[in-house]
Amino acid sequence: MPQFDDTELTAAVIRSFEETPDPRVKFLMEELVKSLHDFVRKTDLTFDEWGAAIDFLTRTGQKCSSTRQEFILLSDVLGVSMLVDAVNHRDRDGATETTVLGPFYVGEHKPTAHGADISADLPGERMFVQGRVTDLKGKPLAGVPVDVWHADDDGFYDSQKPSYETQGSSSRARFITDADGRFFFRTILPCSYPIPTDGPVGEMILQVRRHPMRPAHVHFLVDAPGYEPLITHVFIEGDKYLDSDVVFGVKNDLIARVEKRTDPVMPDGKPAAAPWHLMRYDFRMKPGKGTAPKPMMAATEDA
Ligand code: BEZ
Ligand code: FE
Repeated sequence: MPQFDDTELTAAVIRSFEETPDPRVKFLMEELVKSLHDFVRKTDLTFDEWGAAIDFLTRTGQKCSSTRQEFILLSDVLGVSMLVDAVNHRDRDGATETTVLGPFYVGEHKPTAHGADISADLPGERMFVQGRVTDLKGKPLAGVPVDVWHADDDGFYDSQKPSYETQGSSSRARFITDADGRFFFRTILPCSYPIPTDGPVGEMILQVRRHPMRPAHVHFLVDAPGYEPLITHVFIEGDKYLDSDVVFGVKNDLIARVEKRTDPVMPDGKPAAAPWHLMRYDFRMKPGKGTAPKPMMAATEDA
């Protein structure tokens, strides 16, 4: 009957993976166990602390449903999501920077006409958004789907509201770039908002005296054949949370000056009823492949 001291135990667990057929799985399991065991040794983890961690993870799982993914939120607030993003996008070669997908992407939509107001029924300051999708040399990419989604004037996504099931989506759409790689639409100015704090991740954030806020942004997912899918946000310059995003998702190149305008017409020549804002951003795509992500909720069912 083998007996192990705390270092030999790590070696024994690693040996237990020897027969793993997939070398990548074997490597990941070995490294995971090394890191977990190191953590326990370095911290002299007590039984109470270990129990609290198990309880926390159990409650994190129990909070997941068909509309909520508390484990991804945990990954986000611990900076793991942005680290995975960073190690997978080390060389951008001038392509637009990437950031987290977030939990509020609900998947594809039928294409919407350019110029449409995707927040027509919502209160808020009006905003005109125009963008262009090109390759790294500036050649326009036509016929490319661009998914956009953002929070409303109260800081909620449509999918967080009870009305979502009956009234459908708002502040989200898919546009297809025109022959010059361009797309444009109307919406409202999004505001900064808190991540959901009514679960174990929120408890943790408050326990360590962090705020739960994300700076105002619009999400974009650009998926051009022959190019890496681009998952990004455009942040609004001046937002007070740009330096302390709770999910560490801000990159300087993704901050746009959103100008306040009083011109009586918007860039597509149609009248503006009140002062409005203009967001302009161009997206440079990196050649490559990859599959656009599926919505985070797709694999999860209500308990
Ligand atoms: C979001 O941008 O929608 C988001 C990202 C990470 C965690 C929570 C929300
Ligand atoms: Fe968001």
